Amino acid sequence: MRLVLLGAPGSGKGTQAARLRDHFGVPHISTGELLRAAVRAGTPIGLKAKAVMDAGGLVSDEIVLTILEERLSAGDTGAGYILDGYPRNLSQANALDVLLARLAQPVERAIQLDVDNELLIARLAGRALAEGRADDNPESVRKRLEVYDAQTAPVIDYYRHQQKLTSVDGVGAMEEVFERIVEALGNRFA
Ligand code: AP5
Repeated sequence: MRLVLLGAPGSGKGTQAARLRDHFGVPHISTGELLRAAVRAGTPIGLKAKAVMDAGGLVSDEIVLTILEERLSAGDTGAGYILDGYPRNLSQANALDVLLARLAQPVERAIQLDVDNELLIARLAGRALAEGRADDNPESVRKRLEVYDAQTAPVIDYYRHQQKLTSVDGVGAMEEVFERIVEALGNRFA
């Protein structure tokens, strides 16, 4: 299962990727998590990325591709992977295709989680209270949603043109959304 999960901030990519990892037994690779780990560890990449992330912008393509390449070289993706948070613009989508062609592990499917903005904002406000993630404040959330519309939404069409895309309703209980994804994955062009 070589899968890309697409969706706006708060759409449930991380939540569903963790379930899909357990279900399919392939690693969950989140560029957001890799970057947050670099920030926590105080690496040069983390130091460069922190301010951009906190403000809700996109970290440079070069930095993110570097950490992704490093992660993919861990050697545990033979049976597949679930990519969460990458690609986030068309240039990253192209770079990913080149990288994965070189590794002979091309993307098979892309799932887009569809959730309206009002609910996204409510979910992220809830997480801000529960966990205090630095970029879940109202100003950064607004910026993240703008960046998603301007830069990441076109990636949906990129995978549609490759006939790899399925949109899934991301509203409902977590388990319900998970079941919809698994069902969609069983049906290649659903
Ligand atoms: P990243 O970590 O990828 O954040 P994001 O895309 O903003 O996504 P979130 O983690 O906020 O949401 P999610 O869709 O994963 O939802 P989740 O399951 O967590 O990126 C963070 C930053 O890193 C970026 O802004 C950027 O700066 C940088 N970055 C990362 N990748 C990059 C790249 N490729 N290029 C450049 N920069 C990059 O759920 C959210 C909340 O909702 C949780 O509290 C959850 O419990 C709840 N929830 C989930 N599903 C449901 C449900 N069905 N019902 C009720 N609540 C739910």
